[in-house]
Amino acid sequence: MMDELLPKLTVPIKADAWLDPTMLFPAAREIWLEIGFGGGEHVSGQAARHPEIGILASEVFFEGVAKLLGQVEDAGLTNIRIWPEDGRELVDGLNDHCIDRAFILFPDPWPKARHQKRRIIQPDFLDALARVMKPGGRVRFATDVRSYADEALERFLAHSAFDWTAGRADDWRRTPDDHIETRYQMKRLGDIEPVYFDFIVGSGD
Ligand SMILES: C[S@@+](CC[C@H](N)C(=O)[O-])C[C@H]1O[C@@H](n2cnc3c(N)ncnc32)[C@H](O)[C@@H]1O
Repeated sequence: MMDELLPKLTVPIKADAWLDPTMLFPAAREIWLEIGFGGGEHVSGQAARHPEIGILASEVFFEGVAKLLGQVEDAGLTNIRIWPEDGRELVDGLNDHCIDRAFILFPDPWPKARHQKRRIIQPDFLDALARVMKPGGRVRFATDVRSYADEALERFLAHSAFDWTAGRADDWRRTPDDHIETRYQMKRLGDIEPVYFDFIVGSGD
């Protein structure tokens, strides 16, 4: 399955040209992006719920890619394309302003202080993400690690492109209605209950 299906579904990122993802999903109403999909339950669940959208999904962990391929095949999903490598390369390979929604859910927390620079939410990455998001697009970040929640929120808020949508102080502790829990999330490996930050992408002015 890896040998046959993965090449057909791999996002054709090239070093010398940005990709317009609508080429991959000509009929899609929106293009979504998920980075670090783990076992793939969220991305395949969203793809099944929303056949009208196309999703680009990235994961570096080989077993996770294999699991998602199994879900694509079992459910007959036609609206997922996979980048089986670093999601930052995927973002860097996309056109400006082509993504309607992005999900970064329970990214590797790197809890030890000396490893925290490996966390994906870094100012450079947020610049890259802001470039590919459509104005008015939405980004969801979730974690169950307090120090990552604090750091990521500070970095998103420090960036002029991202506006936090929380209306009330408690909004971030409420599981969004459209969220799909994964097996990883259910293990509750962090030190807090999951928190969700939803941002709207502004013009950056
Ligand atoms: C803690 S797991 C969470 C997985 C999934 N989002 C979930 O909620 O179940 C984080 C995942 O991100 C993947 N990952 C880490 N860095 C990545 C990167 N730069 N690009 C793509 N995937 C990455 C890891 O391999 C791992 O599977």
